[in-house]
Amino acid sequence: MRVTFTVNGRRQEADDVWEGESLLYVLRERLGLPGSKNACEQGECGSCTVRLDGVPVCSCLVAAGQAEGRDVLTVEGLADHARRRDGAAAGDDALSPVQRAFIDAGAVQCGFCTPGLLVAADEMLEHHPSPTDDDIREALSGNLCRCTGYEKILDAVRLAAARQESRADTGGAHEGGAIAS
Ligand code: FES
Ligand code: FES
Repeated sequence: MRVTFTVNGRRQEADDVWEGESLLYVLRERLGLPGSKNACEQGECGSCTVRLDGVPVCSCLVAAGQAEGRDVLTVEGLADHARRRDGAAAGDDALSPVQRAFIDAGAVQCGFCTPGLLVAADEMLEHHPSPTDDDIREALSGNLCRCTGYEKILDAVRLAAARQESRADTGGAHEGGAIAS
C-alpha cells in the first residue's frame, strides 16, 4: 500500500508498505530519517518517540498505515518546529532550545536515547512552560537511558524550562508553551 503523510512539515509518500510495517521502519528505512532510534521494538524504551498529530508515540508500535493523512514530527524536525512555535524568540540557533539545553547540561553520552527524550521533553515544555520535577519525570517516564543516571537529563530539561521562562519574561516566547530514578 501507499502511505501519504506529513513529516516535519513536508508531504511524504511511501510505496509498497506492507501491513505490518511500523512507522519507525518507514521513517528510518524508506524516508532516510534515522534520528528516531530502534532499540527494543516493543514500546519499552522510548528511543523511537515521535509526535503523531502532536502526541508523543512509540513509532515502533504504530503501523505505518495509521499515519495516513497525519502529521509526524521527528527529532530531525525539532528545530524548525521550535522556530515556527517560538517565532523570533527562537533566535538563529540551528538547534531547538531543548537540544541546546541537553548539550549545555551534558545530558548526552552514547546518545541513543537522546532523540526520543528530546521529542518527549519538547512536547512537555509546550504544555508545561514551568514544569515541576514531577511533570518532567512523568513526561519522560517512558524513555529509558542506560548511560546518564537521568540526573543530567533532568538538569537539561530544567535548563530548557528556565530559558523558556526567561524568554517569556522578556516577551518573546510562546505562552503555551523515563525518568524514574
Ligand atoms: S524502539 Fe520503540 S519503544 Fe523501544
Ligand atoms: S545517553 Fe546512552 S542510553 Fe542515554
